[in-house]
Amino acid sequence: MNEKIVVNSWNEWDPLKHVIVGKADGCCIPAPEPALDAKVPEDSDMKGMHGPRLKDTVDKANDLLNNFASLLEKRGIKVDRPVPINHNQKILQNYFNKDKNMKHETAPKPRLTDLDYRKDYLSEKIGEKKRLEWTEKKYFVTTEEEPLFDAADILRFGKDLVVQHGFTTNLKGIDWLKRHFSNHRVHTVNFPGDPYPIHIDATFTPIREGLIINNPQRRLPKSQRKLFENNDWQIIDSAQPAHNSPPPLCCSSVWLSMNILVLDPKTVCVEKSEIYQSDQLDKLGMEVIPVELRDAYAFGGGLHCCTADVYREGELKDYFPNQ
Ligand code: NVA
Repeated sequence: MNEKIVVNSWNEWDPLKHVIVGKADGCCIPAPEPALDAKVPEDSDMKGMHGPRLKDTVDKANDLLNNFASLLEKRGIKVDRPVPINHNQKILQNYFNKDKNMKHETAPKPRLTDLDYRKDYLSEKIGEKKRLEWTEKKYFVTTEEEPLFDAADILRFGKDLVVQHGFTTNLKGIDWLKRHFSNHRVHTVNFPGDPYPIHIDATFTPIREGLIINNPQRRLPKSQRKLFENNDWQIIDSAQPAHNSPPPLCCSSVWLSMNILVLDPKTVCVEKSEIYQSDQLDKLGMEVIPVELRDAYAFGGGLHCCTADVYREGELKDYFPNQ
């Protein structure tokens, strides 16, 4: 643990050299509370259920996450794994008192809430450090009057941060980001058509410099496209998902098909069953690496959700000089 860890990740596509892959241990279906109720779709089979997830589903998810980690390691990427914590316990702090926490997302989603994992990741760089800080903040605010944001609503494009205004990031939170990252340009986006605007990574996915795929049911409005158009970036509709419904006890949508992990500007990991998304990326000139992960979706999402960049080879660049 004394090894110095350098955090350097300025965008979503530079060559990945070091990453965290989550674990499913101890995950729960969260207990009801108002913020969660707003996030779980009305027709979800999770409604009315809470408590630890069944052991065989945890084991299966862990098998898939372990395989994903090995695949990345075989490609020369350093992979860290979080230390599992017990999620089946009470949360109590100033604004928030929940008898049974039962979070389902922490262990497999280091992007979001893996607060206990290696505080020494906190470095002077923007990137994972800020993700962790932002996420910590999330636990200490619960009202519209206070800044609320979630790292999974934020995309990094070098000097520009693109932040989704939705259920998990409010305008106060975006103001907070603007104040704290005055050396960056922070842009607010939203995606009409998304009934549960939570986490940007099944909606708007950068593939490489100049190219983004956008969920065709949640298109970025014309008025918000200027930044990209003025700088010759292409935003194209993503392919359709291969499934009509999410797997059991999963509160994400079928658009986890777009929740991919870009390894470098020519290589991308896509969930194995998502044949249409793979085909589209193949046609766009990417080498597509299929990764089986669907049975881990219920634990908090897809390939992007269950990973957190630590190091991508590259520097801070200005991709949008024409503001
Ligand atoms: N709100 C998104 C979350 C994806 C990680 C969806 O379910 O489509």
